[in-house]
Amino acid sequence: MRLPYFDLLFESLDKGNVALDAAFGRHVHWGYWERPERADLSPEDFARAAEALSQRVWRAALLKDGMKVLDAGCGFGGTVASLNENFQNMDLVGLNIDPRQITRARSKVTARACNRVQFVEGDACRMPFEDVGFDAVLAVECIFHFPDRGEFFSEARRVLKPGGVLAICDFVPKGFLRPFSASKASRRMLDPLFGSCKMTHSLSDYRRLAADSGFVSIWEEDIARHTIPTYPYLRKIQRDLTGKEDWNKFGTYAAEWVSRLNWMRYMILAFQKLD
Ligand SMILES: C[S@@+](CC[C@H](N)C(=O)[O-])C[C@H]1O[C@@H](n2cnc3c(N)ncnc32)[C@H](O)[C@@H]1O
Repeated sequence: MRLPYFDLLFESLDKGNVALDAAFGRHVHWGYWERPERADLSPEDFARAAEALSQRVWRAALLKDGMKVLDAGCGFGGTVASLNENFQNMDLVGLNIDPRQITRARSKVTARACNRVQFVEGDACRMPFEDVGFDAVLAVECIFHFPDRGEFFSEARRVLKPGGVLAICDFVPKGFLRPFSASKASRRMLDPLFGSCKMTHSLSDYRRLAADSGFVSIWEEDIARHTIPTYPYLRKIQRDLTGKEDWNKFGTYAAEWVSRLNWMRYMILAFQKLD
């Protein structure tokens, strides 16, 4: 699959871009700022906010020491690294379709003596894992890339133990914005940088999907307001990288404003597998 933003990221990391490494070398997702007005837009501030977002997702999965956890679409392994640092006796598995990211995750994340960590190449909609092996499945800001949300939910259900939790974060449009977010105009704006993205599931679509897939919804939290400084930070990176701001400029302003207006929510959602 095409992920142009990861191509750009690898190109800059290979050239030794220290600021980009500090901001996106571990997590490749939006940040969470408890006090967005205090964001200083430094790489270190962004990295702290990205770590905070991961932690909010794994908290929604009700994790405990000793669990087996799958992070689907694991990027560079940032969420697995966070779990490795915060829990003991864990069996942690990162899954990613992109072998370059798997290689980097393996080189960056070392299991603490009390934990087991592995990174596996594969598709989140056809998981290379046995049935009922995991206590929790996470998908941090990646479900919009997956070929089909229904297939992912049914795979997550298959690999979870009874009572296990699926926790995700996603861009969730209000119902009236859905036709636009599924339109060609939206794809023309997003695809050149982000590749295929389907930001098409409203909250009621998710509730229906969960019920149809044998899950009960246990967590619904809109954190859009706390992610807003991500957009000026993305524009700042562009200026630093290219000396100008035209690359995807309209896209980041449009995304920022639909978030500010709360037309596009940024939600943490968790679902429990029924026995
Ligand atoms: C925005 S990044 C998020 C990465 C990571 N979850 C993080 O938070 O740092 C989206 C990720 O989804 C992965 N991805 C896209 N499609 C996938 C699929 N079908 N199966 C597994 N991973 C996929 C991409 O390779 C990328 O790592």
